[in-house]
Amino acid sequence: MEDTKALFPDKLTGITYKTLETCDVEIPRPFCLVVFGATGDLARRKLLPSLYRLAKNGLLPANFFVIGVARSDMERAAFRGTVRDAVQGALAGDFDFRSWTEFSHRLYYVKADYAQTGSYRLLKRRITDLEKRHGTTGNRIFYLAVPPDIYETVASNLGTAGLSREEKGYAHIVIEKPIGRDLESAERLNRVLRKSFEEGQIYRMDHYLAKETVQNILMFRFANSIFEPLWNRRYIDHVQITVSETLGVEHRAGYYDRAGVIRDMFQNHLFQLLALTAMEPPVAFEAEHVRDEKVKVFRSVRPFPTEEVGEVVVLGQYGKGAIGGQEVVGYREEDGIPEDSVTATYAAFKVFIDNWRWNGVPFYLRSGKRLASRKAEISVHFRPVPHLMFAGTLEGRIEPNTLIMRVQPDEGTSLIFQAKTQGTRVCLGTETMDFFYKKISVLGDYERILLDCMQGDQMLFVREDGVEQTWALLSPLLERLGSAAKFNTFPNYAAGLSGPPEADLLIQKDGRAWRAL
Ligand code: BG6
Repeated sequence: MEDTKALFPDKLTGITYKTLETCDVEIPRPFCLVVFGATGDLARRKLLPSLYRLAKNGLLPANFFVIGVARSDMERAAFRGTVRDAVQGALAGDFDFRSWTEFSHRLYYVKADYAQTGSYRLLKRRITDLEKRHGTTGNRIFYLAVPPDIYETVASNLGTAGLSREEKGYAHIVIEKPIGRDLESAERLNRVLRKSFEEGQIYRMDHYLAKETVQNILMFRFANSIFEPLWNRRYIDHVQITVSETLGVEHRAGYYDRAGVIRDMFQNHLFQLLALTAMEPPVAFEAEHVRDEKVKVFRSVRPFPTEEVGEVVVLGQYGKGAIGGQEVVGYREEDGIPEDSVTATYAAFKVFIDNWRWNGVPFYLRSGKRLASRKAEISVHFRPVPHLMFAGTLEGRIEPNTLIMRVQPDEGTSLIFQAKTQGTRVCLGTETMDFFYKKISVLGDYERILLDCMQGDQMLFVREDGVEQTWALLSPLLERLGSAAKFNTFPNYAAGLSGPPEADLLIQKDGRAWRAL
């Protein structure tokens, strides 16, 4: 990442910016970041390397420090060593000794028993001392990189210790999915959070929202005048939302086998993509307005039928197969997965949004592990032309226009259209207009999330009602599917294919087809 300009302060707001290759990034105010679960997987793989990269690229203020909190006894030097290994492991070539030394002077470690209020009193004292030393003026972020079953304990103990109070600066709490495993547990967690923190202090993150191309959905829809008039039931036949992965369950068997694909991918990432595609234009591009419109979409989703659920939902689990020419085992043979597991690793949904704009337009959603390719995209399939004046001269039918928003890989947008092929006869061919981002992203997902949280911008975070509304849709479905699971025929797709054959039928019976993976 190259500087093109030095830091520049805005005289009116007092905010300092730094210009990166393609955008100006606001430098946050001084802060203290407390990472609970600092020696765990999430902190080591994502969080701390992202923070280091921000520091290395000059995107953090001069005054900040980080306290790692975990259960084990550890000296500060050992903690720094752990973080250094993690950063080098995650960033390889992006590590340099000078910026690491500067960064490491800001790292501290506190041992804590998450359930003991005494630990939080000690933590508070440590924060207050270090705030004086680093001149950080009281802004605090508490990042819960701990297993979700202790979110409630940590959040309420922070409250009891007075650490959620915003006295001299802000106090933000960040939690990751899963936010509950059904409506009841999500509501309970939200209640516990709200006892200690205001909604404006709570950052529920969904890393899909930080992806450049996911943010582009709103820009594309609302900064261009030519698509919006067509963005409705009159011109759109259907929409497909796909997030397919080639990876299997990896090292997360314990979590995944309890969650399954609906909790892991649909309740959050796929529903967020659905909301951004279907929502009405917000009054302004501001967190509350955008989140209001997203919640309205969730409220308009037609509840899944409890009878004949197979008409709109197909589940799958991978068996053994091959990915990129390499043989891979089936889900039930993965380390830590029970050999009779009925957890779904694939799902396809047909969803209707019962509102004025979308009445009768199906949204087909699918996501799964160990599929033919890694791909996340939204494709908007327009209706065919109303009258085929070329009939009789052309064989076959004209392929309707399709707009494809590629979230990953090959980030960008394509429009499929028809054009005359050269020659004298009336002859049409399918062509594609393409836009590719030149570079993936200047800022990584976690870097953006950290910056937004420091700047107090909740646009990329999910609000309480958004979480609860999606669970309200999915909880009854999960219950229904749970009781039907004993009849299933898993595994029903081989690793490396595009999913179970029933998923093809789900869309084919409507006279449509999935885009190829
Ligand atoms: C996570 C899921 O939220 O998203 C994982 O828990 C999944 O199971 C991952 O692999 C996919 O994210 P990405 O950014 O690699 O598409």
